[in-house]
Amino acid sequence: MKTILVTGGAGHVGSHIIEQLVKNPNNKVISLDNYFNGRIENHITGAEYREGHTKDIDKLIPETPDIIFHLGEYARIAPSFDDIEQVFDMNTVGTFAVIEFCKKRKVGKLVYAASSTKFATNGQERFANPYSFTKANNVDLINSYGEWCKKNSNPDFEFNYAICYFYNAFGPREKGDGKYGTLIAKYQDIYLNGGNFTVNKPGTQKRNFTYVGDLARGMILTAEKGHGNGYTLNNKKAYSIIEIAESFGGPIEYKDGYPGRQDSGDTSTQDKARTELGWETTVDILDYIKDFIAKHPRK
Ligand SMILES: NC(=O)c1ccc[n+]([C@@H]2O[C@H](COP(=O)([O-])OP(=O)(O)OC[C@H]3O[C@@H](n4cnc5c(N)ncnc54)[C@H](O)[C@@H]3O)[C@@H](O)[C@H]2O)c1
Repeated sequence: MKTILVTGGAGHVGSHIIEQLVKNPNNKVISLDNYFNGRIENHITGAEYREGHTKDIDKLIPETPDIIFHLGEYARIAPSFDDIEQVFDMNTVGTFAVIEFCKKRKVGKLVYAASSTKFATNGQERFANPYSFTKANNVDLINSYGEWCKKNSNPDFEFNYAICYFYNAFGPREKGDGKYGTLIAKYQDIYLNGGNFTVNKPGTQKRNFTYVGDLARGMILTAEKGHGNGYTLNNKKAYSIIEIAESFGGPIEYKDGYPGRQDSGDTSTQDKARTELGWETTVDILDYIKDFIAKHPRK
């Protein structure tokens, strides 16, 4: 029996990881989520849900997990400018506690859900907003702990970790409403309820939208076979926001807003997940949208 902790298990990607993990009867799956953006509707039968902040992990998780999938962080770019205090509390303070927990309890493996934003704009995007800043810093911290544990701080414990990089997730259980809603679910709501498809100018900014089930499978494969940094989980095809809005049929309304990075940076050499783990994407965003439209024809 393996004890597996998923932080952020009531969130979008975390719920898909849990869904895949509970299929194996040898997994005891626990979620730790503070419900900042998590939802009870995302709960999966077969997992145990505990409510709390990762900074209290030591108190809330008396078990010693074999694996921790660490996704429980503040996870949105544009609103992070307004939420700096929460971003640092949830991502910096919380993640530090998760890493210390791994060291203290000798957790078998930590698998971290990093953000691909740090690769954009020739690596400068990590400084572009509070969210990307904390995510990139956490990657540095985890890699550094790996080195420190090897060298001297805890000679009887080698910090076993792997880092996955996600690109814009889409798929079932994505939330479109509210401050933390994400693009594809927002556009699905607009498609169903009417209105303009708002696009932050210029709209030519591109994203490698990646299917959430593929991200979850990639993270689980990384837990099984991966070591260290660099498991980028990306759909190789990138689409502009205009192309996405057009694929829903429009009409488009351009507005001033935070467009974020122009693209995800050069992903052509980032093939560790594919070559080492045999991972690949299975669903392209344009096919997903076509399928959605076919199921919900406009009257
Ligand atoms: N969705 C993406 O496109 C994307 C891209 C790159 C990286 N990521 C990373 O993947 C992870 C999951 O993203 P998501 O889109 O599913 O976001 P999400 O907001 O749906 O899920 C995150 C979950 O973590 C919980 N949470 C936040 N801080 C916490 C804390 N300190 N302690 C306990 N729970 C906490 C939230 O309540 C939420 O349920 C995040 O770490 C995010 O940074 C996501």
